[in-house]
Amino acid sequence: MASNVKPSRTLLVTGASSGIGRAVVERMLAGGHVVIGVARDFSKAALSHPRFHAEALDLAELGNLPAQLKRIIHDYPDIDGVICGAGRGQFGSLEEFSYRQIADLIDINFTSQVYVARGLLPVLKGSGRGGDLVFIGSEAALSGGRRGAVYSATKFALRGLVQALRDECARSGVRVTLINPGMVKTAFFDELHFEPGQEDTNYVLPTDVADAVALVLSARPGTVFDQINLSPLKKVVRFGKKDTGGPASGNQNP
Ligand SMILES: NC(=O)c1ccc[n+]([C@@H]2O[C@H](COP(=O)([O-])OP(=O)(O)OC[C@H]3O[C@@H](n4cnc5c(N)ncnc54)[C@H](OP(=O)(O)O)[C@@H]3O)[C@@H](O)[C@H]2O)c1
Repeated sequence: MASNVKPSRTLLVTGASSGIGRAVVERMLAGGHVVIGVARDFSKAALSHPRFHAEALDLAELGNLPAQLKRIIHDYPDIDGVICGAGRGQFGSLEEFSYRQIADLIDINFTSQVYVARGLLPVLKGSGRGGDLVFIGSEAALSGGRRGAVYSATKFALRGLVQALRDECARSGVRVTLINPGMVKTAFFDELHFEPGQEDTNYVLPTDVADAVALVLSARPGTVFDQINLSPLKKVVRFGKKDTGGPASGNQNP
């Protein structure tokens, strides 16, 4: 499907090896853009395209991240949009988390995103063409879900970051957006004890989120989508092999 995003943008997409990030990469390449994809491991979904540049990077290695971002900006000085799609889910009661696991989840789902914004904002602001900073939040950014204390906290924090950044970036023509999906059918659930129901009304597709990103990028420069929430038509959570309809029984927010 052709994109209506203005042509010839250079976009950095994190989480580019899988799921939502991968769908965003494919959508943006189809729209004629140059895409720099960031993830740790591209071997699981090799993507060969003349306008795609893979940057293998562990975003959770925070000590190295500023230097890596500086290098990326040096190599791709025309970046005028950043889509932060990297992240992971981990659920359980708080006491089930070790202190290390708490720190690790916060590092990838929140702190690394702040670092990416901190590193890339100067180039976005300096592009002179306006820029976009798009974060993939979650419905867990809107309400805390059962066994999701740390995950929800990272996503609430991301929402606070976006709301605060929106104002300080507007003066430079940079738009900041948060997209909050409900359950999206991706590898996110591979290691989890729950997943969306099997009907196609029970999940959002990664391409649906990519459509939302394309919509955000295609808005008139004077308009910003502050936040987009998109959810499966029917919330059905599968624990093991059993479907449990409705938020009352599931109340699990990815
Ligand atoms: N799926 C859902 O239901 C859902 C709903 C709401 C929000 N979200 C959010 O959407 C985002 C993407 O999830 P997804 O569903 O697309 O999951 P996914 O298919 O598992 O993709 C996650 C992506 O993040 C990358 N990533 C993870 N840790 C990384 C690290 N330390 N350094 C660099 N890249 C890293 C992974 O690449 P490598 O493994 O190759 O590093 C992969 O490309 C997450 O922030 C998640 O919270 C997902």
